[in-house]
Amino acid sequence: MSLYQNLLLLTAISAFLSIASACSDGQCKLLDECSSDGDCEAGLYCFACQQGFSGSRCVRSTVTNQFKLLNNSLPFNKYAFLTTHNAYAIDGYPLHTPVPRVTFTNQEDMITDQLNNGARALMLDTYDFDGDVWMCHSFGGQCHDITAFGPAIDYLKEIEEFLSANTEEIVTLILEDYVGPNGLTKVFTDAGLMKYWFPVSNMPKNGEDWPLVSDMVANNQRLLVFTSIQSKEASEGIAYQWNYMVENQYGDGGMQAGSCPNRAESSGLDDKTKSLVLVNYFHSMSSKEKTCEDNSGDLINMLRTCYAAAGNRWANFVAVDYYKRSEGGGSFQAVDTLNGKLLCGCDDIHACVAGSTSGACTP
Ligand SMILES: *[C@@H]1O[C@H](CO)[C@@H](O)[C@H](O)[C@H]1NC(C)=O
Repeated sequence: MSLYQNLLLLTAISAFLSIASACSDGQCKLLDECSSDGDCEAGLYCFACQQGFSGSRCVRSTVTNQFKLLNNSLPFNKYAFLTTHNAYAIDGYPLHTPVPRVTFTNQEDMITDQLNNGARALMLDTYDFDGDVWMCHSFGGQCHDITAFGPAIDYLKEIEEFLSANTEEIVTLILEDYVGPNGLTKVFTDAGLMKYWFPVSNMPKNGEDWPLVSDMVANNQRLLVFTSIQSKEASEGIAYQWNYMVENQYGDGGMQAGSCPNRAESSGLDDKTKSLVLVNYFHSMSSKEKTCEDNSGDLINMLRTCYAAAGNRWANFVAVDYYKRSEGGGSFQAVDTLNGKLLCGCDDIHACVAGSTSGACTP
């Protein structure tokens, strides 16, 4: 062929390829190129992750609901849940103080969106501020006008609405708590959340299994709240987190490949008297640019490392920043993997379904 013919052929091939790869109107599949969210299939949205791929592509935006795909008849600790770190620290959250906010964020959509996309545990920082309980970033346990996000009641009302509209779902709140006596009890009462409260007396204290999810749903005990203040368990019936959960180091210290040390407040990850395992995987200073890579393969690798550190136990909670940022499957795939491991020993929960073709796995 002449050079001219070659060029002609190349042009024809590339034109064909670009037509072949063009998709729109909700037809684009995982990692197909896209120009808007509407191009992507349900459960995906259009996103650019410079570290992961060129251009904008469809990536996941929701987690698989394990109770709906399989069932909810197992103990609570046999399932994994997507956890949003600093769920309240949201880009563009309405200003509630007289001065502009000067602090970092960790998420990009409202609590209602987080829950609708499948987050089932929220990490929240609660402070006494301005005569009320607020969500705020810390400076030595003290909330300031410039680091305050908003009154806790607003966030809790979104959670109440979700629980009332989704009667089979369970939400876990993990509080970094700086609130004085009875402040939380009052704000949870005001938000109408006490009717969902899972009592501390029903929480396993010695490594036993949790109650069945189906029973928790039937009893309407669908809100689990953990505080970082030990004395509140006796005084207000709010569970002290590390009586029930082991947790790895948060921040950069928890992102060293191949190691999964416990955070100081938690007993060792292999302490099986605690039935729940929480894995943190986010930077000390949140970074949108790094997050799509963090939330992808690196996260899955860390979950495997922490599985070994926890005495061969898969995490129940996986906490990330900017949970929708990924190279494709991200935190959603990580949770699908955990549920697959927990529920049938496969790499993906879809492989637990009888007759499934995804992820060859014979449990
Ligand atoms: C629920 O799903 C689990 C995991 O696949 C399975 O082991 C269990 O038998 C199922 N229970 C019911 C009642 O279907």
